Amino acid sequence: MRTLVVGSGGREHALCWSLAASPRVTELLCAPGNAGIAREAECVPVAADDVEGLVTLARERAVDLVIIGPEQPLVLGLVDRLEAAGIRALGPTAAAARLEASKAFTKAFCARHGIPTAAARSFGRDQAEAARAHIRTHGAPLVVKADGLAAGKGVVVATTVEEALAALEEAFSGRFGAAGETVVVEEFLEGEEASVFALCDGEHLLELGTAQDHKRAFDGDRGPNTGGMGAFSPAPVLDRGLLARVMEEILRPTVRGMAAEGTPFRGILYAGLMLTAEGPKLLEYNVRFGDPEAQVVLPRLATDFAELALAAIDGRLAGTAVRWKPLHALTVVMASRGYPGDYPKGTEIRGLEALAGEEKLLIFHAGTRREDGRLLAVGGRVLNVTGLGATLAEARERAYAAIARIDWPEGFYRRDIGLRALA
Ligand code: AMP
Ligand code: GLY
Repeated sequence: MRTLVVGSGGREHALCWSLAASPRVTELLCAPGNAGIAREAECVPVAADDVEGLVTLARERAVDLVIIGPEQPLVLGLVDRLEAAGIRALGPTAAAARLEASKAFTKAFCARHGIPTAAARSFGRDQAEAARAHIRTHGAPLVVKADGLAAGKGVVVATTVEEALAALEEAFSGRFGAAGETVVVEEFLEGEEASVFALCDGEHLLELGTAQDHKRAFDGDRGPNTGGMGAFSPAPVLDRGLLARVMEEILRPTVRGMAAEGTPFRGILYAGLMLTAEGPKLLEYNVRFGDPEAQVVLPRLATDFAELALAAIDGRLAGTAVRWKPLHALTVVMASRGYPGDYPKGTEIRGLEALAGEEKLLIFHAGTRREDGRLLAVGGRVLNVTGLGATLAEARERAYAAIARIDWPEGFYRRDIGLRALA
């Protein structure tokens, strides 16, 4: 089966690594890929948001299966276009991708289907005065969210009314473009955050792992929000009982509701959750794997991911099971100093060759490029150093022991990934 992975981050490297091991995959392409992916797949220089270019590539290379990493192409309708061309693709249609593309849509959807989430109200730009009044009446703390995709920058957890009002003005100012045309103002939830992934075929769903992410740039959850600085899987806070509640109260009604509304969800559904005293509540949906969560979920998977993807696309999940290796995984992201702000490009990374083939260690690349035999950092998040082990502590030790051997003075990483879960 000729398989194409779309994307260029650590998540896509983990997807390529997983697919390269599948007996079903005879040829693996990645668009556009990175220096690490180039060892597993043929990288083709087509951007992940170039829908026309990707459809053309899939046609020209007679691709049988497309796995889409990031949200942008899904929201732009890549799956709709591939399906129309008769090419199987794992991911939701643009209509189903609204679960990530519009927080206002998802809030209204949750209300229609009784899915537990923070109480919220949505306001269009022409309702700014009503939004201000609502914020003043409600009082802080409050969470203000731009409706659309804002690369993680559209959410402000406001501890004062002034901060909430400022966040509202910022969103309505046009800083997030169309993503800020509508703003969601929601109740502040307290608890531990965790994520659950589900593979969906439009009607049925299978749990596809749990994880916890570290969103802030620096140790102790300080500094600006990032795409994620590290993760581990499974998430020990999600015991069997809680996980069953998440599946029954949140994920299953979502898949049922999407089907009932005529926009069945096929692909990977990522529930970002707050485990509150009242039970698990949905913070947000993503319509794809997490990055760096895929880097800790996929290495634990014992079932062939290509088989799972085909079962989801073909509506056969009811007869399918997911098996896991008895392993914990923890990944530490190494990023360019300055990320998520400005950072230098083209700094050299040394020492990775000595780590190749190391047992229970996987290094997934994100922003890397190979030039004249040298490995260069060319992005914000650059490497995902992933340790595996019989326990979370062992996985963590492996990841940090490997990092100590990587020579990249211009990089930085958090030293406390997984620490709280071990305490
Ligand atoms: P989101 O993109 O909606 O997941 O929000 C990004 C981050 O903001 C989440 O990971 C939480 O840490 C925080 N957050 C979002 N909504 C809430 C809420 N209602 N209460 C508390 N924190 C929240
Ligand atoms: N790590 C968070 C995300 O992928 O959205």
